[in-house]
Amino acid sequence: MDKDQIIEQLKKFRKNDIPWRDGRLFSYVYFLDKETEEIGKLAYMEYLTENGIDATAFSSLKSMENETMHFCRQLLHGDENAVGTLTTGGTESILLAVKTARDRAKALNPDQEEFEMIVPETIHAAFYKAAHYFGVKAITVKVDDNSYKATAELIAPHINSNTVLIAASAMSYAYGVVDEIKTIGKLASQKNIPFHVDGCIGAFILATARVGGMKVEDFDFSIEGVTSISMDLHKYGYCPKGASVLMFKSDEYRKYQMFVCNDWTGYTFANTGILSSKTGGPIAAAWAVTNYIGEKRYSEIALKTIEVAQEIRKQLGAHPEIEILTDPNYSLIAFTTPNINIYALSDELKSRKWFAGLQFKHRHIPTNIHLTVAAHHFNNYQAFIKDVFEAIETVKKKNIPLLDMDLSQLTPADLPQVLGQLGVGEGELPAEMATINQALEQLPKPMSKALLVNFMQEMYK
Ligand SMILES: Cc1ncc(COP(=O)(O)O)c(C=O)c1O
Repeated sequence: MDKDQIIEQLKKFRKNDIPWRDGRLFSYVYFLDKETEEIGKLAYMEYLTENGIDATAFSSLKSMENETMHFCRQLLHGDENAVGTLTTGGTESILLAVKTARDRAKALNPDQEEFEMIVPETIHAAFYKAAHYFGVKAITVKVDDNSYKATAELIAPHINSNTVLIAASAMSYAYGVVDEIKTIGKLASQKNIPFHVDGCIGAFILATARVGGMKVEDFDFSIEGVTSISMDLHKYGYCPKGASVLMFKSDEYRKYQMFVCNDWTGYTFANTGILSSKTGGPIAAAWAVTNYIGEKRYSEIALKTIEVAQEIRKQLGAHPEIEILTDPNYSLIAFTTPNINIYALSDELKSRKWFAGLQFKHRHIPTNIHLTVAAHHFNNYQAFIKDVFEAIETVKKKNIPLLDMDLSQLTPADLPQVLGQLGVGEGELPAEMATINQALEQLPKPMSKALLVNFMQEMYK
């Protein structure tokens, strides 16, 4: 293929993607404007081929990473001892935070054989991934029934001599609340247990809104007991993907993050992160975009985002069929429709080219629709609200019944048949997902896991 054909083909690949540039996607993508995107691209391409594996060969990348960390340290109220690493994403930051806590415990208590971390039920899935990868048992604790916040009171009874880490969110992805960081920090400090605040989605917008004068809840290193924070620049920092910060209160904690191997025969192997070779693109882009936007403009964007999110909450919440689930003051929204088939509503919104993710019911929390509000919604949120209201009327008219099947007795041997019945074929999903979503929600957990594994296998062929 020649260059023109390649470009043509790349554009064609995109034809079924969600048109995120128009603000129709309420997750996954954070888009500020074309100019910022260009700066990110330019810096990324400039350092595409450099390798983040070795700061002695590419001191440019080290300098840009350190400068970016200094900027973030201020935002997170770290003192001069706070140290950070630019990772490839929120998940890598979390994986490393858990590995670091485990290795610290191993170093301090060489006889310890079992490792546990206490996480609220609203913690991001990346903590379960970390638990699985690093042999740390996740002890999941309930959040407060009304506020959906993790509290010290609910965490305290689960602390024991195996506990290597306590984690909480600022904000939690699903419901947008900031856990009670202050009281949990105090508890962690009294028990001398590291405490990680997952600010992957929340820390940047909270910190920059605070710069703009908003009073936000406590969440950072100014709180006693907080030993590490994850904060993604590729979310509300509007940097290209591959940029998250993992920051520790001091080197005393971070030293357990490093991986060094001198048992092999090749080059000196000393890594801060999980990957070894990695493109320098995201590092250069994060440096460039954070400098291009700067603290002042970031604070304006954060305040505007929160204002728009509150307006969406207000207007949606005023509709008689809509119930807003929690009462956070920030940029994430979860809403439900007690009398309307929410699975069908999600499909109806998708058919109108809006992508707002469905979140399954959990304990007393009903199935709901999640919205991450960001700058690409500033100009179109009214159109979204209008479509939600129209979609509700359409779903009412269609009167699609809820799935009425007993799925509790199914076994893995039934999987191929179940997939067929749900309309999943050859790794393709049907346009209407209502039945599949209800099945995923109702199936026993091992079965829904097996179903998803099966589906992923089919999809990547
Ligand atoms: C609270 C929270 N933690 C962690 C992550 C994981 O981030 P990433 O997708 O960059 O790995 C997310 C992503 O939305 C998040 O909202």
